[in-house]
Amino acid sequence: MTCFSCLKYHSEDVNNCDGGHGKGRRTYKDVTVTDSMRGKGAALSNQRANVARSFTFRELAASTQNFRAANLIGEGGFGSVYKGRLESGKLVAVKKLNLNGSQGNQEFIVEVLMLSLLRHSNLVTLIGYCTDGDQRLLVYEYMPLGSLESHLFDLEPYQEPLDWQTRLKIAVGAARGLEYLHCKANPPVIYRDLKSSNILLDRDFNPKLSDFGLAKLGPVGDHTHVSTRVMGTYGYCAPDYAMSGKLTIKSDIYSFGVVLLELITGRKAIDMSKKAGEQNLVSWARPFLKDRKKFVQLADPLLQDRFPARCMHHAVAITAMCLQEQANFRPLIGDIVVALEYLASQAEFSENSHPSPSKIDNDHIAPAR
Ligand SMILES: Nc1ncnc2c1ncn2[C@@H]1O[C@H](COP(=O)(O)OP(=O)(O)OP(=O)(O)O)[C@@H](O)[C@H]1O
Ligand SMILES: [Mg+2]
Repeated sequence: MTCFSCLKYHSEDVNNCDGGHGKGRRTYKDVTVTDSMRGKGAALSNQRANVARSFTFRELAASTQNFRAANLIGEGGFGSVYKGRLESGKLVAVKKLNLNGSQGNQEFIVEVLMLSLLRHSNLVTLIGYCTDGDQRLLVYEYMPLGSLESHLFDLEPYQEPLDWQTRLKIAVGAARGLEYLHCKANPPVIYRDLKSSNILLDRDFNPKLSDFGLAKLGPVGDHTHVSTRVMGTYGYCAPDYAMSGKLTIKSDIYSFGVVLLELITGRKAIDMSKKAGEQNLVSWARPFLKDRKKFVQLADPLLQDRFPARCMHHAVAITAMCLQEQANFRPLIGDIVVALEYLASQAEFSENSHPSPSKIDNDHIAPAR
């Protein structure tokens, strides 16, 4: 029996599911459902489940040509990611976990659980997993353009910097993914690990959030937060959460603000190669974020001023709100989605119509690419 055999429900069982409210029969193979898991599953099961399948280690080794170095597409804190091709011909990304202690295993379980129960076009799809012996592997849909991080920082000479419109498109999609987690999942899911390396891109730069191993089900009822050991990534973690360990959906909003700031500035959340005072992006940006006249100075030099100035101004204003020190003052993701969608439509409009600067604003305006 595998450590998460409770997740191995058959697709017909999913169809039998009535939203976890008791009427429909939900059967699990080799059932060992802990109360907490049963709660999570029941609460989220009113959303269409994404049934991940179980792979053998042999199948995944074959799909990645024995985890050949040439197939390695990335490495993170939890293991290596390989490009693979399943027997069906489908391209996949196979994440092979280095399991050091139980924490990795815990995150593996949460990842499978969360991604099995959540489904949205801005969340990466989990195709399956492998738990043969000590092996723990995750199989995701393959995202051909890799992570947002690889398109923003340390570009190779052949790489074109992202234009303003594409940056907004990515911001809108990531915000929609987060909105799904915060507002449509029931109970809400706090992502906890929003960062540019966890935003993956399809061939049209549509973003999908990935890595749910740290996600937590949000507070229910009258509770305003869940208490938890502080985890996440330095540079993206909200100060209130880092200090108190009290996790709220507003912790994710702060991290989203850091990602917006990365999109605007082209600078990394933490960059130890920069001189003192510039290594932490938010600290460096604070003086600019406090003075509206300085907003435009935050723009990534690689944008070469190719953005509507007013649009940039609004984007920086949204970012500043997300990065408020006091969590209560940060906006809700639904409002951020609306605001960013509006900006993206404006950027598109200004690109299509190429208006003279004076028609939109008195500021300098260069046409978006
Ligand atoms: N589904 C996927 N499709 C294509 N590339 C992927 C996919 N998943 C991950 N990658 C690549 O592998 C890299 C490593 O991912 P991984 O999630 O293991 O680590 P990370 O996000 O960089 O860091 P951390 O371990 O802190 O989360 C990503 O940055 C991305 O380039
Ligand atoms: Mg990741």
